[in-house]
Amino acid sequence: MRGKMEFFDRQAERWDAMRHGAAEQGRLDGLVGRFGLRAGDTVLDLGCGTGRATPLLLRAAGAGGRVVCADFSAGMLREASRKRGLRGAGFVQARAEEIPCADGSFDAVVCYCAFPHFEAGRALGEIRRILRAGGRLVIAHPLGSAEINEIHKRAGGAVSKDVMAPAPAMGTPLRAAGFRPLRLVDRPGTYLVIALKE
Ligand SMILES: C[S@@+](CC[C@H](N)C(=O)[O-])C[C@H]1O[C@@H](n2cnc3c(N)ncnc32)[C@H](O)[C@@H]1O
Repeated sequence: MRGKMEFFDRQAERWDAMRHGAAEQGRLDGLVGRFGLRAGDTVLDLGCGTGRATPLLLRAAGAGGRVVCADFSAGMLREASRKRGLRGAGFVQARAEEIPCADGSFDAVVCYCAFPHFEAGRALGEIRRILRAGGRLVIAHPLGSAEINEIHKRAGGAVSKDVMAPAPAMGTPLRAAGFRPLRLVDRPGTYLVIALKE
């Protein structure tokens, strides 16, 4: 876990400049519109990194909503908190496997490009705990699972073995963790899993 935290800390300053181009930004814009977020929602951006998805989550939640950014990397959080577009968001340094938030305190938890790095079973348990009944888990990437896993393999080091399961295969662990899968989309350029807390 520490090795992975250091891996991301080292990348924080240049994260936004790395391989994240206009094409990805376009796909991110399109994806967020499919998350099913509503004005007034309280949303956790879990594994927020430098907050690339956060402005869109803030817009979806609207003036009456709230967005909290969580990440275990202090470097990533520092970069995120410097951004003007993220004013209005809250920030918390936390591991996905041990989230320091109250039971039932979120309408939605969004993991954008982050879930494969978590210890899946423990993270799902924590996400379920902090969601209200009927609350929404979103796991999204601007790539399909085969593309994600290839990138991690090529990146090597602490993330080389971090795997995103094909979306159809997520149904079983989600149900086991107390979620009802709503969407399981996995194709080149799009990974979108949405599940509701039962
Ligand atoms: C691939 S980056 C994506 C960051 C951001 N969502 C984006 O799209 O730019 C994954 C992020 O998850 C964070 N992360 C990885 N494992 C984590 C864990 N177990 N708990 C909390 N954050 C974690 C990393 O520090 C990193 O910022």
